[in-house]
Amino acid sequence: MKVINSIVHMQALAIAPEREGRRIAFVPTMGYLHEGHASLLREGRKRGDVLVLSIFVNPIQFGRNEDLDRYPRDLARDCQLAEACGVDVVFIPSASEMYPHGFQTGVTVRDIALPLCGGSRPGHFDGVATVVAKLFNIVRPDVAFFGNKDYQQLAVIRRMAADLNMPVEVVGMPIVREADGLAMSSRNAYLSQSERQCALCLFRAINRARELFAAGEQSVAVLLRETRIVIEQESSAVIDYVEFRDGEMLQELEVADGRTLLALAVKIGQTRLIDNTVLGEEL
Ligand code: PAF
Repeated sequence: MKVINSIVHMQALAIAPEREGRRIAFVPTMGYLHEGHASLLREGRKRGDVLVLSIFVNPIQFGRNEDLDRYPRDLARDCQLAEACGVDVVFIPSASEMYPHGFQTGVTVRDIALPLCGGSRPGHFDGVATVVAKLFNIVRPDVAFFGNKDYQQLAVIRRMAADLNMPVEVVGMPIVREADGLAMSSRNAYLSQSERQCALCLFRAINRARELFAAGEQSVAVLLRETRIVIEQESSAVIDYVEFRDGEMLQELEVADGRTLLALAVKIGQTRLIDNTVLGEEL
């Protein structure tokens, strides 16, 4: 497995497979890898001839008061996991090379990036779209993998790739959960033992909504009320948003159907967690 830090080296390395008709599969991450990332890498291994992983904690997708400085990092462990998943190249650029002095270009995806996390984290999706566009230009993947846990992020990246005619297939992969249902996330590392227990209210809320929907409830007002109650029962959980939206354009709804997305962002202590489900799809 090669570890590459420089952008020109990565670009040079990506050209050979392209010329030889070998497919590059790409998994962009911010590191501190977990089983969710491993599932993307394993799929990438199956679907590409060359598997590239990037690890870059992207400063421009963090707001001023967010956790950029304390975002968990462990490159040695990440490289071990990458090797075990059959990664060929790990690309770990520096922030100063990605955003040199004078950098001033950004990618903005409009409507789909505005609600949900776009509302609570202004500018976040501009940062995500910009870095993913840069990474696509550097790695030149044929296929790129993202987790469905960041549902809106995936929708934004899909939109960007389609709108800007990027020659890459964007693949969403199922949320990977711990045995007790907590969605895997690098940010789970912030949780104390008691917060970890409290964080299970997100999964309980999802299950409550799914049960009600499966029993025939389609009123978004009712589903919303019942879902919020589950979270509000946890004293240290503070709702950022709980919303039911159409799963494609992320528009507001009054009546839910099988394609309706339930998206949640909840603060547990200092840690903001997100989770989601599409009501008619398997968990
Ligand atoms: O989901 C992430 O880890 C990041 O938002 C991404 C897509 C790697 C962009 O920095």
